[in-house]
Amino acid sequence: MTSMIEPSVAVRLDTAELRGECVSTSQRAIADLAGIFRDEAARGALPGETPVYRVQVWAPTPENTPGGLAWGSTFIQPGKVGDEYFMTRGHFHARRDRAEFYVTVQGEGGLILMDEQRKVRCEWMRPGSVHYIPGHTAHRAANTGSSVLAFLAAWNIDAGHDYETIARHGFAARLREVAGAPALICEP
Ligand code: F6R
Ligand code: MN
Repeated sequence: MTSMIEPSVAVRLDTAELRGECVSTSQRAIADLAGIFRDEAARGALPGETPVYRVQVWAPTPENTPGGLAWGSTFIQPGKVGDEYFMTRGHFHARRDRAEFYVTVQGEGGLILMDEQRKVRCEWMRPGSVHYIPGHTAHRAANTGSSVLAFLAAWNIDAGHDYETIARHGFAARLREVAGAPALICEP
C-alpha cells in the first residue's frame, strides 16, 4: 500500500482563489493599461494605482512543454474608464491554434471574442458559465457588475500570449455602458 498524496494546488470554488506554493500572481493597475481603454483622458484622471485586475497562474511544466497545460484565475475589479468597463488587456495566443476554457466563478461580465477577420462576439459571464475560446480568437473579459468578476482558465502552456497585435489594432468592438446597461459597441 502507498500513501495518498496531497495535491500541491487547491482552488476555492466560491471565489476562484488558488492556493499553492507554485502559484504566481500578477497585478494590473490603471497606470499599466495605457492605450487599452477608449478614453485615455478618463484613464489618466483615475489614480494610477487603482487596481483593475489580478491574475494567478499555476504552470506545472516549463513554458513550451508540448502538451503541457496551465491553470489560472483572474479577478477583475468593478469599475469603468469613462463608459467602458474595467477589463483585461486581451490577447491572441502566440500559437494561434491554441484554444482555452474560461469558467466564471463569481460576478458578472462579458467575454469579448474576436476572430482574425476582426469579427467580434460577446458571451455573458455569470457564475457557472463555461466558455470555449477557439484557436485564432482574441479574448478579453470585462466586468459589467458591481462586484469582483472572477473566472478560472485552462490553456496549453505552449500557447504563448500575443499582446502586440491588440496593442496595435485593438478589438473591433468595446463593452460600454449605454443608458445604464452593457452594450457591445463597434469601433468606428
Ligand atoms: C491565459 C488567459 C488568461 C488571461 C488573464 C488576463 O491565456 O487568457 O489567464 O491571461 O485573464 O488577461 P490578459 O492576459 O489579456 O491580461
Ligand atoms: Mn488566453
